[in-house]
Amino acid sequence: MDTIMDIAKQHHLMVIEDAAQGIMSTYKGRALGTIGDYGCYSFHETKNYSMGEGGTLLIRDDAHIELAEIIREKGTNRSKFFRGEVDKYTWVNPGSSYLPSELNAAYLWAQLENAEEILNDRMKSWNLYYQELKDLEPVELPVIPEGCVHNAHMFYIKVKDLETRTELIDFLRKNDIYSVFHYVPLHSSTAGKKHGMFYGEDRYTTKESNRLLRLPMYFGLKNSDILYIVEKIKEFYK
Ligand SMILES: Cc1ncc(COP(=O)(O)O)c(C=O)c1O
Repeated sequence: MDTIMDIAKQHHLMVIEDAAQGIMSTYKGRALGTIGDYGCYSFHETKNYSMGEGGTLLIRDDAHIELAEIIREKGTNRSKFFRGEVDKYTWVNPGSSYLPSELNAAYLWAQLENAEEILNDRMKSWNLYYQELKDLEPVELPVIPEGCVHNAHMFYIKVKDLETRTELIDFLRKNDIYSVFHYVPLHSSTAGKKHGMFYGEDRYTTKESNRLLRLPMYFGLKNSDILYIVEKIKEFYK
C-alpha cells in the first residue's frame, strides 16, 4: 500500500482500496480500508462479518460523503430530507438502489457489536490449524508479512501441485470435510482472456493458484473439528 499510495500521489490519482476481506486487519498499524482515499469492505455471506450481501464504503474526505449518499439513494437527496436538511427530496444525480434493508443492517450490526469476539474466535481456530500443521512436510502454511496483522479470514495450505490438491479435496470430502480451492487467476478466466492480458512470464500465479487449498473456517468452529481435519490431512500424507 505504501508503494501504491506513493505512485498515486506522484500522479495525482485517487486510490480506491479494495479491502473486501480486510476488516479488522492492519498494515503498519493502520486499519485496512483506511489507507486509500476510499476503502471498501464486503459483508457478503463468505466474509467475517456478514449481512448476506452488502458492503460499506469508507470515505476519507467529508466533501465526498454527500455525493455517495445520493448515489446510493437512487440519485436522490433523500438522506438529507430525513435529516431535515431539505423540505422535500428529489433527483439530483445519477445513482442506483444500493441501500441495504434495515433488516439486513440489523443482522450485521449485532456482529459488529461483537466484532472482537468474532475475531478472537476465528484467530483461535487459525492458530490451532497453524500449530497442528506447521511440522507437516511437504505442506506449506500461510506467511504473514512483517507489519501486517491479519483477521483470520481464511486458513489455507499449499500442497505440491494440482494433482495432489484434487486428490486431497476428494479424500477430505470422503471424510465429510469440505475444503475448497481459491483463487482462479483472472487472466485465465473467460472475461480475463477477452479483456486483459498477462504481463511478463507467469512463473507463480497459475502455479500457486493450483496448489492452494482452503480449510473450513467460520465462527464457532470447534477445536475438536479442527483436530479431526488435521488428523485426516496427516492420514492422507501417510
Ligand atoms: C478482494 C475482493 N474484492 C471484492 C469482492 C466482492 O465483494 P462483494 O461480493 O461484497 O461485492 C470480494 C469478495 O469475495 C473480494 O474478495
